[in-house]
Amino acid sequence: MSALKPLKKAVLPVAGLGTRFLPATKALAKEMLPVVDKPLIQYAIEEARAAGIEQFCLITGRGKTSIVEHFDLAFELERTLEERGKKAELEGLRAMAMEPGSLVTVRQQVPMGLGHAIWCARSFVGDDPFAILLPDDLMLCDTPAMKQLADAYHETGGNVVAIEEVPRDKVNRYGVLDVAEDKGRLVSVKGLVEKPPVEKAPSNLTIIGRYVLMPEVISHLARMERGAGGEVQLTDGMASLIGTQPFHGLRYEGRRFDCGDKAGFLEAQIAFAMTRPDMAPAVREFLQRYR
Ligand code: G1P
Repeated sequence: MSALKPLKKAVLPVAGLGTRFLPATKALAKEMLPVVDKPLIQYAIEEARAAGIEQFCLITGRGKTSIVEHFDLAFELERTLEERGKKAELEGLRAMAMEPGSLVTVRQQVPMGLGHAIWCARSFVGDDPFAILLPDDLMLCDTPAMKQLADAYHETGGNVVAIEEVPRDKVNRYGVLDVAEDKGRLVSVKGLVEKPPVEKAPSNLTIIGRYVLMPEVISHLARMERGAGGEVQLTDGMASLIGTQPFHGLRYEGRRFDCGDKAGFLEAQIAFAMTRPDMAPAVREFLQRYR
C-alpha cells in the first residue's frame, strides 16, 4: 500500500446541550463534568494524544468557554501551587499544557446534528485524515482506544470506526453496521444505518464515539441531507464513502462508559476510581454498604 498520510488531527464535538444532566449542566458544559477528578474532555484529549494526535479542533457552542479555559495556561494558579510546594498538582497541570496553536475552536451556531458539527470543522480538516472523539463515550482500555484505531488505520488505510456488540433491543440508539465480512478484530462494512428500528437493523454491531475518517466525508456532509431525527447525520456521510474507500469497524479492546447517561456516568466514576491505587481500597469498602 502506498504511504498513508499520518493521523495528526482530531475533531471533538462539544456543542451538545447536555439536557440529560440538567440542572448540573445549566451553567456548566457537560464535557467539564468530572469522572473522579478529571473532566470528560480531558480524558478524550489525552486519549487522542496517546495516539499521536497533535492538532485539536473543538466544535463548541454557547456556554462552552470553560472548556477552552481548561486547556489554557493558568499562570496564577501554577505560581501559587509552586509557592506552596504542591509538586504533584503542578506536574499534573503542566502535563496537560497544550502546544501553542494546537487547539482551535469552531462554533456550531445551530444544533443540526453530529454530521453538521463535523462539517463545521472543514477548514481544519483540509485534505488530511482525521480522528473524531465523542467525549461522552469514555473509554477504559489498556491500549488507548484511539491508539487502537490509529494502528488499525495504518493496517487497512481508509476509514475505521470503533465498534461493539450491543443487545438487539438497544441497536436503535446507535449507528449500526451492515457487515460485508466479519474477520474478527476487523469487520469490513458494506453499509451503515443511523438509529434504525430494532427490526430493521442489519446487525447488532454498533459504532461508538471513536472514528478515523478520510477528508472526503466532508463533501458528503456538505449536502446537508437530513437523516434520523431530522438531523444531518455523520453516519449517513460515512455511508456515502463505502465502495469508494476502504471502510472497517474495529472491535476495540476495553470498556466504554456512556457518560451521556446518568447510570453510565456513575458506573464510570466507580470503574475509574477502582483503577487508582489511592482510591480503590476506600471505594471497595464503601461499595459493600450498597449491596
Ligand atoms: C452518535 C452517533 C451514533 C453513534 C453514537 C455513539 O449518536 O450518531 O452513530 O453510535 O454517537 O455514542 P448520539 O449518541 O450522539 O445520539
